[in-house]
Amino acid sequence: MTAILIDGKIFAADIRARVADHVARLKQDHGLTPGLAVVLVGEDPASQVYVRNKGKQTKEVGMTSFEHCLPADTPEAELLALIDRLNAAPAVHGILVQLPLPDHIDADKVINAIDPAKDVDGFHILNVGRLATGQKAMVPCTPLGCLMMLRDRLGSLSGKRAVVVGRSNIVGKPMAQLLLRDSATVTVAHSRTQDLPAVCRGADILVAAVGRPAMIPGGWIKPGATVIDVGINRVPAPEKGEGKTRLVGDVDFETAVEVAGAITPVPGGVGPMTIACLLANTVTACCRDSG
Ligand code: GUN
Repeated sequence: MTAILIDGKIFAADIRARVADHVARLKQDHGLTPGLAVVLVGEDPASQVYVRNKGKQTKEVGMTSFEHCLPADTPEAELLALIDRLNAAPAVHGILVQLPLPDHIDADKVINAIDPAKDVDGFHILNVGRLATGQKAMVPCTPLGCLMMLRDRLGSLSGKRAVVVGRSNIVGKPMAQLLLRDSATVTVAHSRTQDLPAVCRGADILVAAVGRPAMIPGGWIKPGATVIDVGINRVPAPEKGEGKTRLVGDVDFETAVEVAGAITPVPGGVGPMTIACLLANTVTACCRDSG
């Protein structure tokens, strides 16, 4: 069997087109332009790329982008003061603080200082609690993108056996909550899980979010399963020349594609969905704000 490829680029382009449409209507009918503020502390190259892409795509759909790049030694109090100003700014509907933050800053304190109504990442404790208790919440962008692709592929997720490998606050835990909300039977596996291969082989839906290159081989996958690979890992690629690298997922694509029913590639699978969902969350925040 060769799996169907789930194309995140096409999916994300479709979401962006719908967001752009919505933004145009908000401007025309209500004189409102959704605004997204992205805050980066430090010079982590990968984070700088993400932040640049977020800004570019925000503008492309007609929204306003506010970018705040602060030096790595910015005191926590200064960052909290910036969050206060963004919370109070009427033109800012969404606030995202790029993670990870430098060690001297308490990330939980910063996240929980964001107005929950502007928390387009869905990381504020109130949004986490709302999602866990089935209330209307801002939902974290990467798992939201994964859920959209799963629903599109499978229709109803009700009763499906879903295994999420990884228990991070950004992906694993909210992914499990979303699958549960859709009535899947959910297992969260992690580094201490016993007989991980057997647990994975029981999954109709396998979501890999561990951040370890190609750790899940085809032999761990149930034939016909839908596999969502959240991992984006940069590894050496000597075949491309000295010092060259390439991106690989948490799933060993070459062997998995022979067993799975459908699979997201890396790159071009989950990755593009994250920013598309961030833009969608910003429009949602703007609409809620305007009543
Ligand atoms: N760092 C890696 N992924 C994310 C994300 O989804 N949101 C934020 N704020 N930081 C991240």
